Amino acid sequence: LHVAVLMGGWSNERPVSLMSGEGVATALEERGHRVTRIDMDRDVAARLAAAKPDVVFNALHGVPGEDGTVQGMLDLMGIPYTHSGLATSVIAIDKELTKQALVPHGVPMPGGRIVKSAELYEADPLARPYVLKPVNEGSSVGVAIVTRDSNYGNPIRKDVVGPWQQFDELLAEPYIRGHELTTAVIAGPDGPRALTVTELVPKSGFYDFDAKYTDGLTEHVCPAQIPDNIADLCKSYAVQAHRLLGCKGTSRSDFRWDDEQGEAGLFLLETNTQPGMTPLSLVPEQARYCGMTYGELVEAIIADALD
Ligand code: DAL
Ligand code: MG
Repeated sequence: LHVAVLMGGWSNERPVSLMSGEGVATALEERGHRVTRIDMDRDVAARLAAAKPDVVFNALHGVPGEDGTVQGMLDLMGIPYTHSGLATSVIAIDKELTKQALVPHGVPMPGGRIVKSAELYEADPLARPYVLKPVNEGSSVGVAIVTRDSNYGNPIRKDVVGPWQQFDELLAEPYIRGHELTTAVIAGPDGPRALTVTELVPKSGFYDFDAKYTDGLTEHVCPAQIPDNIADLCKSYAVQAHRLLGCKGTSRSDFRWDDEQGEAGLFLLETNTQPGMTPLSLVPEQARYCGMTYGELVEAIIADALD
């Protein structure tokens, strides 16, 4: 096959995407495929038209590679591509729209509300501790945990620099104490299946951007040492989210679990339609645990795109 690997772009997750793309491209070459690496810029349509690939492997993260924009362009050009399509991407990139799609079907997600960042300086949007996050970023870009004794001030002081300042609107959600869990779903001939559950134990206590991409800053416990009923629930919610959102190829759903609340303490935070494929990434790690090599994972994602 001739595969164009789309990577890079200009989102906050550009460096992550370059690592994902390089991993995928190298694996495809090792498996004998012809690869064109494309660092996405505004001329990407012209470059794809010239390259004429059989399929695009979308290794982009964030906007506009994960939010439907690139997917719409590829639909228009008639080029098959990996991962989710336009409508799924539009919904899944937006944590508020994801809630509207999943919660009515019984997938538990934290409550919360959208606030203008300027409102934060007047009063807390929720009781502390709470989490502030942009609705459509990945890799914990722009995420802040506001605790009772937070040095952001109480209420948040305008002169204190915080990650929310780059965004006009934010999602405020109650902070869920306990465990950070994640489950990958892979498409296959018999439909989507959940791989396993990983617990992320960041040494700093907060699984932020640095903890995600610096080797050694987060322990990945795979499979997570949690009760079977909680692991089974993670897997069933991850498959349910994949199906309800209409994901293709692979997705990864992230959870918080408050172990003092049993099953009622498990909440899906979001479903990633373009999960990381870097050497430290979780989907390749779970695939490996299930006996699937990185190369086989890449092939499975491409097979679903060409199906
Ligand atoms: N947003 C990053 C790439 C992930 O979900 O893995
Ligand atoms: Mg994400």
